[in-house]
Amino acid sequence: MDKILIEGGVPLYGEVRISGAKNAALPILASTLLAQGTHKIRNLPRLRDIETFGVLLRQLGVGMEVCGDTARIEVGPRTDHRAPYDLVRTMRASVLVLGPLLARMGRAVVSLPGGCAIGSRPIDQHLKGLEALGARISLRHGYVYARASRLQGTTFCFDIPTVTGTENLLMAASLAKGRTVLQNAACEPEVVQLAEALNRMGARIHGAGTDVITIDGVDYLEPAEHWIEADRIEAGTYMVAAAITCGEILLRDCPHRFMEAPIRKLRECGVQIELESDATVRVSASGRPKAVDVTTQPYPGFPTDMQAQLMALLSLARGTSVIRETVFENRFMHVGELVRMGARIEVQGASAVVKGVSRLAGAPVMATDLRASASLILAGLAAEGVTEILRVYHLDRGYERIEEKLSRLGARIQRVKE
Ligand code: EPZ
Repeated sequence: MDKILIEGGVPLYGEVRISGAKNAALPILASTLLAQGTHKIRNLPRLRDIETFGVLLRQLGVGMEVCGDTARIEVGPRTDHRAPYDLVRTMRASVLVLGPLLARMGRAVVSLPGGCAIGSRPIDQHLKGLEALGARISLRHGYVYARASRLQGTTFCFDIPTVTGTENLLMAASLAKGRTVLQNAACEPEVVQLAEALNRMGARIHGAGTDVITIDGVDYLEPAEHWIEADRIEAGTYMVAAAITCGEILLRDCPHRFMEAPIRKLRECGVQIELESDATVRVSASGRPKAVDVTTQPYPGFPTDMQAQLMALLSLARGTSVIRETVFENRFMHVGELVRMGARIEVQGASAVVKGVSRLAGAPVMATDLRASASLILAGLAAEGVTEILRVYHLDRGYERIEEKLSRLGARIQRVKE
């Protein structure tokens, strides 16, 4: 396994291009199962999760060739319908094949994803929604067995907004007979981008981006070409990198129109953020940030995927901040590691109280999940001395060539074999 070494205390300066969004790419890759023929997806980020999804698609009998940031995907008249545990356990997003397999093949056998570091993350809403569409579902030996001759449109209200739950049902309902109305749907930009991709394939979806989405089922879909929009969470992470090192970074291809809440919060901390053109943003900071309170919410609220990164910044704030995590029940795994670097953070239930300190000290730390890894990288960039981050495979799931991009910004960072 690799580890990353960072010698902190260097302000970052320069430009960084934001890559395509992992959480937009994964559902769009899954959607190719809905249509026979040749699909083309461009601006794919080079990430472990994308590679893993490619392995899953190939196991389902789909041809997938990736050249640079472009994937050509060949879907035949029939595909396999099984997603095995050894793949699903490494990447929960594999559950996104459930809806499309059921819709086009009439059957699916998909491993239950199991829990992960940040929470139990059940998929009960996915299954309830598919049953509402007429699927017969049983759970046996850790697998979901689903069958449906033809899914039937219906009205379904989620008990809670779920991003991949909404995405699974969007894909399933696209080929159902009749109209489906999803209520209390997730409003994330990645849901909108999936709906736009499905409509390019011939689906008839209206209302994506709001909590009521209408899908008029069609008999078949056609393959199409897609461009993956830039990653709002990667962009937010680099904004924090500029702020925590008191540097100045120009973000290219920055999807700031999907980042109103994190930009507002960073400005409250005293970070300068200037929108220079439709996709170029200049971020700079001088001195310690101001303490702020933040609560994570479904979109358009402050994203849970930015919570750990903001906590790293607030560890150095003037004053005390309170961070409330309302989306996942165990998304404070980074706290213990930040404390080992000198942060003063106390977890009280769903809240973390962060008493800002004037400096962090480099230390050996352990990554536990994707965004916790990013938080430790950010803290290491600001800390005095050397930070050694272990288990960086978590990082590789969601950040394309992060040490290369940070090195180009002046960071003293290297990846070494453990
Ligand atoms: C998506 O996960 C993202 N992953 C996550 O990003 C992100 O943190 C999350 O949405 C919230 O924005 C992808 O898009 C691949 P949810 P997802 O279903 O869909 C509960 C990252 O770092 N829930 O919206 O799995 C669930 O336990 C990852 O890139 C149920 O109870 O999240 C959670 O508490 C991490 N039953 C809440 O809803 C269900 O059937 C929101 O989860 C589904 C979800």
